[in-house]
Amino acid sequence: MKNFKTLQWIGDINGFLKLTDQRKLPEEFTEIECKTVQQLYDAIKTLAVRGAPAIGVAAGFGICLAAQESKNSTAADSVKNIRKKADYLAQSRPTAVNLFWALERMKKTADKFITENPNAETNDLRKSLLAEAQKIYDEDVEMCHNIGINGEKFVPAGGAVLTHCNAGALATAGDGTALAPIFEAQKNSKKFKVYADETRPLLQGARLTAWELAQAGIDVTLICDNMAGTLMKQGKINAIFTGADRIAANGDAANKIGTYPLSILAKAHNIPFYIAAPSSTFDLKLKNGDSIPIEQRPPQEVTMIKNIPIAPDRIKVYNPAFDVTPAENITAIITEKGVITQPNAEKIKKIFTQA
Ligand code: MRU
Repeated sequence: MKNFKTLQWIGDINGFLKLTDQRKLPEEFTEIECKTVQQLYDAIKTLAVRGAPAIGVAAGFGICLAAQESKNSTAADSVKNIRKKADYLAQSRPTAVNLFWALERMKKTADKFITENPNAETNDLRKSLLAEAQKIYDEDVEMCHNIGINGEKFVPAGGAVLTHCNAGALATAGDGTALAPIFEAQKNSKKFKVYADETRPLLQGARLTAWELAQAGIDVTLICDNMAGTLMKQGKINAIFTGADRIAANGDAANKIGTYPLSILAKAHNIPFYIAAPSSTFDLKLKNGDSIPIEQRPPQEVTMIKNIPIAPDRIKVYNPAFDVTPAENITAIITEKGVITQPNAEKIKKIFTQA
């Protein structure tokens, strides 16, 4: 479906991570090369790569960069260094759990390798890490595909879907989460419209979702965030699809700021509200959404657009990047493992313990 790569590892263990620079879209399609952990940290922090699954996949490769940075050490010392760099990468963004999930998985891979091969060369450790990072990438592609298949039936034929932020191909290694059912419906020749919220302050909807859907030939209409309620009242929206950055054990879901009010509007207008997310976005250690850490972003993201001031100098700003939608407002969570309707702790536990 997508004719670009959100991220890809180029070369062997001495290679690097190439990213589509999402800060530049839609004006410019450019790619950047991350050859150091620091470069990747900056790319995540400044949203050159963004979206929970893509951040997780990028972090996996980040550990391969960390391993490169200690290639002249013994394998055991390299593992110590990898742990430090993983802790550093973990500080880049706090909300998307995929980041921590991928870093944990890579640390475990390093530990397992060293336990099983105490006398191995550092290069062998690096090969095993690159294989694991590539596995995370491939699994993400597969998860997106299955979310698409599982969610396609909820895309209303002849109707319209509203989406918020960008949970498309740009946010994953594959075709996206919230947008995967939309791409699948297009493949099945279903006719429908998509409304994309512009998604202030960083405009992921306008800059990325509108770009991505238009590229794919999907009928997309851009709206300002504050227009969603009116459209719902006018009967123009038949379903809402968003992604998630972290889903607690009871189904409460953190996603881009503005998702929670949409869920309330959806309830008030009797419109189904779907969250699409892979299992790597669930944080079953958290009982509910109250303990999901919410990232606070710099004030300039609100006071400026493209470096042009739109607010008085030194005005106080509140800029949380995410909000939490309570499980009771979610019609269903679409995962690669299946669909959890009216999600709750019991149903979520069940889907994760099934073979
Ligand atoms: O700040 P961002 O752009 O990383 O926020 C992204 C979102 O909120 C997405 O909806 C979420 O990560 C799901 S992406 C498949």
